Amino acid sequence: MKTLGLIGAGHIGSQLARLAVKHGYAAVVSNSRGPDTLAGLVAELGPKARAATAAEAAEQGDIVVVTIPLKNIGSVPAAPLAGKIVIDTNNYYPQRDGHLRELDQRSATSSELLQRHLPTSKVVKAFNHVYAAQLTTDGTPRGTPNRRAFVIAGNDAEAKRTVSALIDEFGFDVVDLGPLSESWRIEPNTPAYGPQMNAEQVRAGLAAAVRPPPV
Ligand SMILES: NC(=O)c1ccc[n+]([C@@H]2O[C@H](COP(=O)([O-])OP(=O)(O)OC[C@H]3O[C@@H](n4cnc5c(N)ncnc54)[C@H](OP(=O)(O)O)[C@@H]3O)[C@@H](O)[C@H]2O)c1
Repeated sequence: MKTLGLIGAGHIGSQLARLAVKHGYAAVVSNSRGPDTLAGLVAELGPKARAATAAEAAEQGDIVVVTIPLKNIGSVPAAPLAGKIVIDTNNYYPQRDGHLRELDQRSATSSELLQRHLPTSKVVKAFNHVYAAQLTTDGTPRGTPNRRAFVIAGNDAEAKRTVSALIDEFGFDVVDLGPLSESWRIEPNTPAYGPQMNAEQVRAGLAAAVRPPPV
């Protein structure tokens, strides 16, 4: 059984943990307050789930998801994530995260900031443009007409193949946007961010995205 490690167990992290156990993975969930505070979620998830510290979730996950407010990515433990696939669900909301100069200047994407913090990890942006609740309601089997599609971006082709297979297993088509530097095309306020779209519609939305001017 493969293990999904989750750093962050809020709206998105808890939903990805639900999908993981539903599809036969073990899930190790973590947050900032400590494993004891996750007893309710672990009870709901059942025997394939356990709570741990963020460092333990990073160590134990075959794939690890970072799903926390962007302002906190500096605290993500880098050493146990060395060489691993790290899924980045994070978005930049200045009203929540404060102003981050490189993002305001459009000289980096939020996923590039996480990749820089985790230099030897293989960061793949995914699950950042879907409302958390829809993760467990919108999945359908491969081949379903008009199947919903999710975007991935990343700099490592093999890691993207692995994450694509996971997303497909979870019930969604995948559109590969390219490297992390292009992931601004699926940041907040872009056409494909939020709406329920199939792969063709997602591709059109990504192509139509316009990067806002620097502030
Ligand atoms: N909500 C959505 O529908 C949605 C959709 C797509 C993407 N996103 C993005 O995905 C990320 C997570 O969103 P969310 O809505 O799931 O957030 P959330 O509900 O506020 O949950 C955040 C989680 O991160 C944990 N956390 C915070 N700082 C941490 C740290 N330093 N180390 C370990 N865990 C930490 C929190 O733990 P404590 O509670 O113990 O502090 C909590 O479990 C954000 O960047 C968000 O913008 C959200």
